Amino acid sequence: MNFFKRAGRVFRTLPRLRFWRPFAVQLDWGHDNVVAFKGRLIATVRLYGSGNRIELPETSSFVGHITVRGRGNRVLIGENCRIAGELMIKGSNQTISIGEGTTFESVYIVCLERCDVTIGRWCMFSRGIEMRTSDAHSLIRRRDGRRLNLAAPVVIGDHVWVGVGALISKGTVIPDDCVVGAKSFVNKAFSETSTLLAGTPATVVKRGITWNRGRKRRFSNDEMKAWRVEEPVTHDQA
Ligand SMILES: CC(C)(COP(=O)(O)OP(=O)(O)OC[C@H]1O[C@@H](n2cnc3c(N)ncnc32)[C@H](O)[C@@H]1OP(=O)(O)O)[C@@H](O)C(=O)NCCC(=O)NCCS
Repeated sequence: MNFFKRAGRVFRTLPRLRFWRPFAVQLDWGHDNVVAFKGRLIATVRLYGSGNRIELPETSSFVGHITVRGRGNRVLIGENCRIAGELMIKGSNQTISIGEGTTFESVYIVCLERCDVTIGRWCMFSRGIEMRTSDAHSLIRRRDGRRLNLAAPVVIGDHVWVGVGALISKGTVIPDDCVVGAKSFVNKAFSETSTLLAGTPATVVKRGITWNRGRKRRFSNDEMKAWRVEEPVTHDQA
């Protein structure tokens, strides 16, 4: 092979680079991928495959890494979000969506096996949180070779607080206004709003609760339902 052919082959394997302000680099090995970043971004974004879409509106920020591998996947981030962490999608036609006003101190979201991750509005996620739609490998029953740990979507409602180090596993549903205790392993579809879920595996440990980003002895009725009012949240440090 002559030099020019070899150089051409090497050149074709290089990603298309794009730089975003203030400090982000997008590496695109695919085609027809749409990246619409208007917000603050300190990140690496890696795209493999085609027809994928990533959106970050002007009022939101993202610090970390985004990797999308496959076709027709979407990462949709709402207004007034503050996200630090790593988002990864592998597969086709999957969506990670994060509702407005939701904040993450550090999160690793893995979206695999055609399952979506849907997160509501005004949620607060602490540090060291992992959320996954799949175990990534198979747990198999010896008797008939059947896979036991099937993938499933993750759905988190509005105004959910997730404590430090929680693992939100495949098939989890957390209704509106719930709290997840620190280091909990959540792996079920819960249906009752305003509950405290905690433990490994997480169960309902308190009912009739709510939460607030502030700290004081007593909250008024208005303060307890203020999250339902559609106003931008203030981002106190979690
Ligand atoms: C969830 C939380 C807020 C509950 O606080 P609390 O109301 O004072 O909880 P209590 O101590 O009354 O606990 C109630 C029950 O739940 C259990 N529980 C509480 N948190 C738990 C957790 N993380 N894992 C397992 N069980 C837990 C308690 O052991 C207790 O069980 P018991 O009644 O059998 O003794 C707190 O435990 C927690 O996990 N906070 C996370 C804080 C955090 O991550 N902050 C980071 C900033 S975003």
